Amino acid sequence: EAAAVQEDVASNAGDRDILIRAARGEQVDRTPVWLMRQAGRYMSDFRQYSDKYPFRERSETPSMAIELSLQCHRAYGMDGIIMFSDILTPLPTLGIEFDVVKGIGPVISTEVRNDEDVAKLADVADVDFDKTLPFIREILGTLSKEAEEANTSLIGFVGAPFTLASYTIEGKSSKHCLRTKKMMMADDDGSSTAMATFLDKLATMIGNYGCHQIECGAQVIQVFESWAHQLSPKQFEQFAKPAAQKAIKIIKEKYPDVPVIYFANGGSSYLECQRDMGADMIAVDWSVDMAEARKILGPDIPISGNVDPTILFGTKEQIEEAVRECIDKAGGPGKHLLNLGHGVMQGTPEEAVGWLVDECKRYKGKDA
Ligand code: CP3
Repeated sequence: EAAAVQEDVASNAGDRDILIRAARGEQVDRTPVWLMRQAGRYMSDFRQYSDKYPFRERSETPSMAIELSLQCHRAYGMDGIIMFSDILTPLPTLGIEFDVVKGIGPVISTEVRNDEDVAKLADVADVDFDKTLPFIREILGTLSKEAEEANTSLIGFVGAPFTLASYTIEGKSSKHCLRTKKMMMADDDGSSTAMATFLDKLATMIGNYGCHQIECGAQVIQVFESWAHQLSPKQFEQFAKPAAQKAIKIIKEKYPDVPVIYFANGGSSYLECQRDMGADMIAVDWSVDMAEARKILGPDIPISGNVDPTILFGTKEQIEEAVRECIDKAGGPGKHLLNLGHGVMQGTPEEAVGWLVDECKRYKGKDA
């Protein structure tokens, strides 16, 4: 019994950089795990804050953002702590104002729809993130120490240029992104250069912001292309991909050893175009079978994903089975980071998240 307890303690003790090593494609003896939206309203501890304080206050006040980043790690011991923030957080550095409104979601009040609007945006070359987003250095600095003490990694993140452009252009979540598509077509027929210019500005800002997060302590950066589902493969190739590649390149040229993970939500119908993003690891959504994703991306590319988030509403056995299936289909430990195929959903039973994390840490693959 004592041996069993000891083994338990050992498996929960954490492995400081297992996530980083897997993202770089290095050998690991078990599959690391973190979950998109691991800090969220499914946790009652989180709701103590989200019921009381608006999103921007929570994410831009260091003491609160730090506490909200750590809660889920204390509860479940994931292999990474992700900064509590948002992909929209750096937009004010370009003069784009936003809020997150209860019941609606993100709302962006600055209109960016044509060449004149784009020309009015702040000059990206001059952004001093310590001046415009002073809370980031404090949040990541403290989390960096906390992560070291907890023997785990610190994850930073940015939104990809196309996703931030379309959020801004639409002003809020949008079913068809028609304004954005019209701007893309205007660029295409030569009557405007607004979309290309806007994407380029965003790519520079986002690349520099990723570097800033690394300078403040982040050890890995995930790039969220959350609106990839809006794009055909051709539109992805023409607009989203070059802009994301540019942002990733800025990060990798300055910090070649820091792994970058690229996640195109809804982009699994054009996974083959993502092999050359310049990212170290490709994250896949839950709509593609992991074995198929591995086949398309090939044996060498590290993959993150992709358990269906609704599985967490199932039984303990179903959750554990889904974890084992995902690990086996990805090729066993190594070149795989277990994650959901999108964020943890509101209403997810808290204990279910623990079952998923524990099974991932326990399971060494079907040949072990
Ligand atoms: O735990 C983590 O993953 C870290 C924190 C995180 C948040 N947003 C916190 C947050 C991360 C990584 C994000 C990224 C983000 N934000 C994405 C990319 C991931 C994805 O879902 O594809 C997107 C598209 C956004 C934009 C955004 N911000 C949305 C759609 C919402 C939800 C709006 C709502 O009312 O439900 C937000 C606000 C937000 N960001 C919440 C959280 C936990 C929920 C609102 C709240 O806490 O008040």
